[in-house]
Amino acid sequence: MGKAKLLKIFKSLKTRIFCIVILAGVIPCIILHVGILERYMDNAVSVRTNEVQTQIKIIADHLLTYNYLFDNTNEVVNAELSQLSNLYDGRVLVVDENLKIIKDTYAISEGKTIISEDIVKCLKDGVAVNQLEGKKYIEIIVPIEEKLAEGTSRIAGVMLTSVSTDSIISSYEYIKSRAYLLEMCALVVVFGMAYFLSRKLLKPFERITESINEVKNGFTDEEINVRDYTETERIGDAFNQMLGRMKVLDDSRQEFVSNVSHELKTPLASMKVLADSLLAQEDVPAELYREFMTDIATEIDRENKIITDLLSLVKMTRTSEDMNVETMDINSILELLLKRLGPIAARAGVKIIFESRRPVSAEVDEVKLTLALSNLVENAIKYNIEDGWVKVVLDADHQYFTVEVSDSGIGIPQESIEHIYERFYRVDKSHSKEIGGTGLGLAITRSAVLMHRGSINVSSVEGVGTVFTVKIPLTYIV
Ligand SMILES: Nc1ncnc2c1ncn2[C@@H]1O[C@H](COP(=O)(O)OP(=O)(O)O)[C@@H](O)[C@H]1O
Ligand SMILES: [Mg+2]
Repeated sequence: MGKAKLLKIFKSLKTRIFCIVILAGVIPCIILHVGILERYMDNAVSVRTNEVQTQIKIIADHLLTYNYLFDNTNEVVNAELSQLSNLYDGRVLVVDENLKIIKDTYAISEGKTIISEDIVKCLKDGVAVNQLEGKKYIEIIVPIEEKLAEGTSRIAGVMLTSVSTDSIISSYEYIKSRAYLLEMCALVVVFGMAYFLSRKLLKPFERITESINEVKNGFTDEEINVRDYTETERIGDAFNQMLGRMKVLDDSRQEFVSNVSHELKTPLASMKVLADSLLAQEDVPAELYREFMTDIATEIDRENKIITDLLSLVKMTRTSEDMNVETMDINSILELLLKRLGPIAARAGVKIIFESRRPVSAEVDEVKLTLALSNLVENAIKYNIEDGWVKVVLDADHQYFTVEVSDSGIGIPQESIEHIYERFYRVDKSHSKEIGGTGLGLAITRSAVLMHRGSINVSSVEGVGTVFTVKIPLTYIV
């Protein structure tokens, strides 16, 4: 299996739920196993050791009382020793301070000398020594401590016991086999649950994917409704909203296309009428020819203007990748733009006033910003009165610069204000036609301003004038 495929499998939520459930089941098993079973052995050994030690200490006292180290025939002590040895299935040795074995419950080594590091150590330190001999025996060495006067004591010998761990081991084995059995059962249950849960829990998500695919493939545009979980509900709602938005976008696109066709056809229709009427007449006078041809040329110009504006608008509605941002001097951009519009203003008898409150340099797309502001100034000139004025004010704070374009023109009716940024919208179609607009200018301006992450505002009083305010950040925010 390839690495990519493995990665994909692990990325799946199904696999993860499966693993989590298994871990949730297996980890407690391991903890119980280690925590209880593994400690059982140590615990049982130390309990047994303590028990034996206590008994030996009691017998050790008896040994001293009956002076057993010098005479090992005492019946009471011998009985106690053999009882101890029987009880724990072990061997008891009594050794004196010269390492001579006084008593061996197995009666093998009596009278011999025993050399053992542990015994020597015990004799010297007077501290009991315990150790596990290959797991099968616990070896316990206890000093025989003789109390002397004034709280001192003397080690008179040691008692050495080997206690079998058979009974401990067999109960350990029993518990262990039970534990393994239960653990196996638990594992089977956990695996089953993991398999079941990982499939069952994710079913609703699979249903969502199916529904989305159906919409994607165009079989249906029904809304998704998977109400099993809050999460699936949320995904469904978000998707349905997106679907709604797509429908709106689709509608507006269709509307745009039909508007465009209509707008493009209007000049063509005029041209057709003009051309037809010329063709229908014979011996057309030269002046009439000239007049009609002039009209046709005007219509061609208009067609051209619409197409140019449409192309500008399309450019404006693309992503921010199309932004060609550079740090520019806004003052000189405005000066250049106003100089270019000067002749148009002069023809319309409108005076342009430029007021720059401070030098401003900002990160902008020069072409787009120029187009946006030109449209505003052009409108202010076009929709003005005789001897009117247009005022352009540039200002800035530490975050934004503002360009305010105000005019002494005809103003915009209150009910039209919310529509002026719509494509092809014109307040007064007939009047605007003689002024010669396409209705795309403000749509272009607004898109350009938004592409700069700026805002545009308008306030207008009919018969008094209009103020457009554009506010754009000094540094371009991607
Ligand atoms: N400064 C203004 N004063 C009065 N009316 C304006 C002004 N600017 C825009 N308008 C109105 O808004 C409409 C839309 O403007 P715009 O999108 O630039 O299209 P147009 O090509 O007609 O200029 C204009 O037709 C006009 O009616
Ligand atoms: Mg315009």
